[in-house]
Amino acid sequence: MAITYVDEEKGSDAAGVPGTEAAPFKTLSQAFIEQGPDHEYVVKKNDEDGYKPAAKAALKKAVKNAEVHRKKVAAAAERAEREAQDAAAREAVLEKAKDIKITDDASLPAPVSIDLAETDAAKIGTLRKSGDKEHTGEGVKRIKVQGRVQRVAKQGGLIFVWLRRGMAIMQCVLAGDLAKTYDALVLVRETSMEIVGELWELPAGTHAPLNRELHADFFRIIAAAPGGDDAFVTRVPNDFDTTSSQASEALLNLRHLTLRHDKPAAVMFVRSVLEGAFHTAYRELAVTKVSPPALVQTQVEGGSTLFSLDYYGEPAYLTQSSQLYLETCLPSLGDVYCVEKSFRAEKSLTRRHLSEYTHVEAELDFIPFESLLDHIESIICRVVDLTLADPIAAKIIKEYNPDFERPSQPFMRMRYSDAIDWLRAKDIKNEEGNDHTFGDDIAEAAERRMTDEINRPIMLTHFPAGIKAFYMQRASDDDRVTESVDVLMPGVGEIVGGSMRIWDHDQLLAAYKREGLDPAPYYWYTDQRKYGGSPHGGYGLGLERLIVWLLKLWTVREACLYPRYMGRCRP
Ligand code: 4AD
Repeated sequence: MAITYVDEEKGSDAAGVPGTEAAPFKTLSQAFIEQGPDHEYVVKKNDEDGYKPAAKAALKKAVKNAEVHRKKVAAAAERAEREAQDAAAREAVLEKAKDIKITDDASLPAPVSIDLAETDAAKIGTLRKSGDKEHTGEGVKRIKVQGRVQRVAKQGGLIFVWLRRGMAIMQCVLAGDLAKTYDALVLVRETSMEIVGELWELPAGTHAPLNRELHADFFRIIAAAPGGDDAFVTRVPNDFDTTSSQASEALLNLRHLTLRHDKPAAVMFVRSVLEGAFHTAYRELAVTKVSPPALVQTQVEGGSTLFSLDYYGEPAYLTQSSQLYLETCLPSLGDVYCVEKSFRAEKSLTRRHLSEYTHVEAELDFIPFESLLDHIESIICRVVDLTLADPIAAKIIKEYNPDFERPSQPFMRMRYSDAIDWLRAKDIKNEEGNDHTFGDDIAEAAERRMTDEINRPIMLTHFPAGIKAFYMQRASDDDRVTESVDVLMPGVGEIVGGSMRIWDHDQLLAAYKREGLDPAPYYWYTDQRKYGGSPHGGYGLGLERLIVWLLKLWTVREACLYPRYMGRCRP
């Protein structure tokens, strides 16, 4: 009998080991699996003892292990065989399906093209009663729709297709030959297609959008999406955890595709309604819209967050705020607003900071500070009301933020100095870990804790001049503080920053000096104080932060079509 060698110290179980003295196995089990019962096995535990015949017990164990291994291999082979047969059967069905041809029956009435959400009876006709198989139902029309596949479900001989166009969905049913065609059998999410048929009432006890379904008599693929590893549902799963930065980065790299999921699309829809609501609300107040430039040569909110660029050889920046330009419009247009992009080179990654955000800004002429505060809260409430008046937006808000309540007026008003006292009383420390003192910038964490604990909108006013921008007007009753306001919302913190503006010429020059700003590039801003100054004020609202609050999102990144923040400028 041939001898097989096992060296437990120096042997190897790698594939192809012959088990000779020169190239021994490492384990008896592996040796037995490879060479079977017709060999004599010698085992060396160490060089001192040398090779000895395998012990009976060890051999018995090796036999057992080899048997288990054999069964596993046999089961795997059987499974592979079964899978191959299944695949071949599927392939055969698909091959046969290629022979099934469907046609758009010319004897049927020409179909009417409708949108998936169309409900106008004049266009869609009457719904055929479920179970009414007569083809000449009174008022029933032949309908044609186009869209992308949101979901496919096979049930009995039927294929249910949820067709999506924009945010509208229609349930369509393919039956008979239609459900046996190759195109129907390989249908996957995101394929775009056209379906023709009749709108039916739903069978009792079933549900579908608008309580109807399209019973197809014909369909046509417009552009097929890939299946397999490249399938949409494989590449862009819906269950990313947006609170995990790794997952959300992966998600944002695929933003062009994830936008097709329900929630991102819903957020973008609400954003559109919100923007419209601002335009309506300002129009109601006779505030005129203007479009200030994005390329500028002045800073508004401090040099540390400026994006600078070379502008035909001159230094320039991306605007941080349109405020200064809005102020220049007051004498010609009266109260003005804009909805423009602002840019901040924020060098930290937080849930509420973007490098590019949508800034709703307004400037109001000849007003006292109190009126500015009243205006800000009424604009916010009016915009919320107008948004809730849109049935789709209202439904989305209800779905993602079921506890949302329209804020009641007046908002809580709190002076900065009282906020400092509040933080001290609650033992909430500043960024250095000390008690807050007058003059501290209230950092994001402390601000969040305060807003979340008070749990209603707060208008925080009268910030010290030292922590606010150069243009802010001092309070008449306390020269240490400014007529300034931050609106804080639960779940997000500051969504609005505003103030009365210095309107005295000399005070403004002194402010430039204090901030170390060269007044030369601000000549046009200073001129406003020369030709008929006025007490005026304004504010800026971060649209993405408002959306975070309204929809209870985790971060402002979810509120942007394609968010930009430190490290991300794609897709
Ligand atoms: O408080 P800020 O910096 O005020 C201004 O820019 C004023 N010049 C506006 C004005 O009075 N016209 O910014 C105003 C608002 C903030 O409350 C916040 O909602 C938003 O703009 N904001 C940001 N949003 C997202 N990412 C950022 N990096 C933001 N910086 C400010």
